[in-house]
Amino acid sequence: MCKTIIISNRLPIKITEEDGNLILKDSEGGLATGLGSIYKQNKNIWIGWPGLDIKTEEEKAKITSKLKDENLFPVFLDEDEIQNYYEGFSNEVLWPIFHYMSTYAQFEQKYWDYYKAVNEKFRDAILANIQPGDTVWIQDYQLLLLPKLIRDSIQDVSIGFFQHIPFPSFEIFRLIPWREEILKGMLGADLLGFHTYDDVRHFLSSCTRLLQVQGVANKLIKKGREIMVDAFPMGIDAGKYKTLTKCPGVEEIYQEYLKTFNGLKVILSIDRLDYSKGIIQRIEALEMILDRHPEYINKITLYMIVVPSRDSIPQYKELRDEIDKLVGNINARFRTTSWHPIQYFYRSFPIEYLSAIYSRADICLVTPMRDGMNLVSKEYVASRRRSSGVLILSEMAGASKELAEAIIINPNNIGEIYRAILQALEMPEEEQRQRMTALTNTVEKFDIYHWVKIFMDQLDKIKLTQKQNETR
Ligand code: G6P
Repeated sequence: MCKTIIISNRLPIKITEEDGNLILKDSEGGLATGLGSIYKQNKNIWIGWPGLDIKTEEEKAKITSKLKDENLFPVFLDEDEIQNYYEGFSNEVLWPIFHYMSTYAQFEQKYWDYYKAVNEKFRDAILANIQPGDTVWIQDYQLLLLPKLIRDSIQDVSIGFFQHIPFPSFEIFRLIPWREEILKGMLGADLLGFHTYDDVRHFLSSCTRLLQVQGVANKLIKKGREIMVDAFPMGIDAGKYKTLTKCPGVEEIYQEYLKTFNGLKVILSIDRLDYSKGIIQRIEALEMILDRHPEYINKITLYMIVVPSRDSIPQYKELRDEIDKLVGNINARFRTTSWHPIQYFYRSFPIEYLSAIYSRADICLVTPMRDGMNLVSKEYVASRRRSSGVLILSEMAGASKELAEAIIINPNNIGEIYRAILQALEMPEEEQRQRMTALTNTVEKFDIYHWVKIFMDQLDKIKLTQKQNETR
């Protein structure tokens, strides 16, 4: 029986150790939830890095056997690989370039060498598990070379690839010294998916300009082989977020928030620590409001959650310091004995708390400078108890293409964010209801299960056509 192999840099779990025992917890991320319906079934598996630097063979064996029960297969990375493949090439070359922050990119040969070697390591993990007829679905920018590495090693497998971050315009992509190898790596796939049509367009344009490939609509033809490229905007598990709002545990936290923020308008912001998220810009917009509209002092609060991420990379450390400084200044300038303009948390929150604060927040402020999709905007919509609340959303997030009833802003224009917050603070209930109802319909209809289905159906279709062509 043929199986599906999912492969991503990180496995969809969190591993902790308590009293010498390994504890596995499913990750709450959207991808893990959506693909759970696939990898937990039949002989399907998920291959990836368990996210820890594990040194001894004994520990590796222990983790491997524990993961196997969950259909998960680990690829262990050592310290050098973490430093050069993960932090280096993935997050100091591809991440800044693909998010249009080219001056942050560090084009180190060593990073590229490790990136190639670790992609080969992932290939070997697949080859140890794959059979002809299987389907492989590769996730994201850490594994761009993998489609070709698999195609060159085994015949008769279908290869899908989905990129969760933006694909930049050709003028940015061309800066990468190893640009042709990267595209050739990706073109090993039968189907390549991106969140938006703009990403698709940029990818096709880079391929036709840099490689000997022909582009016809959203197909590329490479040495007679057809490669489909299409947009598949990713959704969330909207049902799960809706159900959470009815959970007694969440209700208790929600009631607490109601008491704590009695009489205040709560503006919510939730992100991983990242320079692509526009965190500084939204704090500056809040400062502008407090400066120009003192009537809002004691009336609004920015509830800002920043989830620690990649903090061994210099730009992330610098960003954290900058946020600390800015929040400190604003709180010191405007606070009263009983009120802070910004409630800032540098840690992750359990999903029950997120659900409660999503429900309580009057406004959700999502202002990335660039974002493949942005799922926070969708989680806010799915967590509203009544059809009210206002979403302010950056036009640079993939989600803005679907969530048109949000207040859409250009995150580089602090004045525009400032005006959007004022508009949201004063928006009549009826207008909030109209906008939120339309947003909810979109988020519920195009959820994560829909996303998985349309991608897999498309890949199956391609597989079938290939089989028919072979028998002709
Ligand atoms: C983005 C990427 C994912 C990545 C996640 C967390 O959403 O698209 O591939 O897993 O960030 O980043 P991390 O570096 O902690 O895996």
